[in-house]
Amino acid sequence: MSPRLIIVSNRVAVPEPGNKQMAGGLVVAVKAALRNRTGVWFGWSGKIDETETAQPRIVERNHITYAVIDLSKTDFEEYYNGLANRVLWPILHYRVDLQEYSRADHSGYMRVNRQFADRLSAFLREDDVVWVHDYHLMPLARELRARGHLNPIGFFLHIPCAPLDILRTLPHHEEILGALTYYDLVGFQTENDRDNFAAYLLAMPGAKEGRDLTFEVGGRQTRIGAFPVSIETATYARLARNAARSPLAKEIKESLTGLRLVLGVDRLDYSKGIVQRINAFDRFLEVNPEWRSRVTLLQITPRSRSDLKDYAAIENEVTALISRVNGHYGEASWTPIRYINRVYSRTALSGIYRAADVALVTPLRDGMNIVAKEYVAAQDPENPGVLVLSQFAGAAAELTGALIVNPHESDAVAAALKRALEMPLFERRERHGPMLEHLLVHNIERWAEDYLAALAETRQRPSLMSELRAFLSPSRSSTDRRAPPEARRQA
Ligand code: G6P
Repeated sequence: MSPRLIIVSNRVAVPEPGNKQMAGGLVVAVKAALRNRTGVWFGWSGKIDETETAQPRIVERNHITYAVIDLSKTDFEEYYNGLANRVLWPILHYRVDLQEYSRADHSGYMRVNRQFADRLSAFLREDDVVWVHDYHLMPLARELRARGHLNPIGFFLHIPCAPLDILRTLPHHEEILGALTYYDLVGFQTENDRDNFAAYLLAMPGAKEGRDLTFEVGGRQTRIGAFPVSIETATYARLARNAARSPLAKEIKESLTGLRLVLGVDRLDYSKGIVQRINAFDRFLEVNPEWRSRVTLLQITPRSRSDLKDYAAIENEVTALISRVNGHYGEASWTPIRYINRVYSRTALSGIYRAADVALVTPLRDGMNIVAKEYVAAQDPENPGVLVLSQFAGAAAELTGALIVNPHESDAVAAALKRALEMPLFERRERHGPMLEHLLVHNIERWAEDYLAALAETRQRPSLMSELRAFLSPSRSSTDRRAPPEARRQA
């Protein structure tokens, strides 16, 4: 029997009726990575329940096993809303000004990580490979090691990793970011993110850099690497091709009555630069009057983390701005911006991508941005649309055929939009072709393979293996065998 892959993440997308949430990059990537593997996806059910249960709930759907636990209201507040989304999310997106740290949230974050470790511990087998995802669960490996698990444990950060000085604004950062050294392999979206974390590691007391991006800290060895997350490119392209013939695509086309379509698709989040984008569209209409009544911006923006005040604030700001632009330029027969908060299915969205002449993907900071990759995959290669992409999205390192912009400069984004709308077919093809080829090779399967191969290789490091062998040798007493080398060193 091949070893199981145990994926752990805060959000687990169990396909259930009524579970309508816009899938973030993590969910899309993990689901695809699990598709051809034997494994289990462990995490939060998305439900709040005060009943304490020791065992996770097991759900089987479409050949994937989900093991989910509920959170109490306090856990949800302190761990998810609190430390994860009011502190780690803004800091890692370079928004130090938005962090709201509290000691109570910090303890709640640690407590939930211990709960995750307890529940996982109960069904972890010796040969399982554990792959933990995202900023909610940074201390999880330390907790698992302390419970005696010697399994290979990897971590992947789906969001950006900020530079050292910014990371240090997190109070008691060693307890959280420093805990990443208990993983065998820590993966990042880009080389920039990876290098930021390398600088953080090297600033830890006694840290040493070894070969192949391996670092020794506190007697532990951890390796880091860049593994840009991707999509199921070929499948997505096929989906979009078929969706282009769907009734929804037809309806959209009819509703456009000849208007050119510019598209924005984002969770409603301050990191996505939606306000700046609308300002750029406003500027575009101001300086290019010939484009008025000829183009519409469709902004699809499902609400997200609505309990948090910064998210409510961005929603109010976006809504007010859009109505101002529509009020200012709109005509009885033309609405410049169509603004939608609903969630579309993957299929419907792929058809909308294909119908769009231009995609504006202009986050202020983004780990990768899957929308950029899906937009490229969804295009008709014979007549592709144009991607306008922020230089601050991880995807910009790979999608070099896009028009790369600084989202803070509305004039430049407005100019890029004009250029995109007026770009001749040969240039659109010339830009799109290599990007699509790149994504066909560097797809989600390759991402998972590369990461898991690096994790396996990391475990084969001679020093670690001999330590493990000595530890597992039958001559040891059973008491000794319960404590992992890491835990013994800590003791
Ligand atoms: C980003 C994060 C994910 C998260 C998703 C949606 O993609 O990297 O970890 O799941 O946003 O956010 P939510 O808070 O709704 O899970």
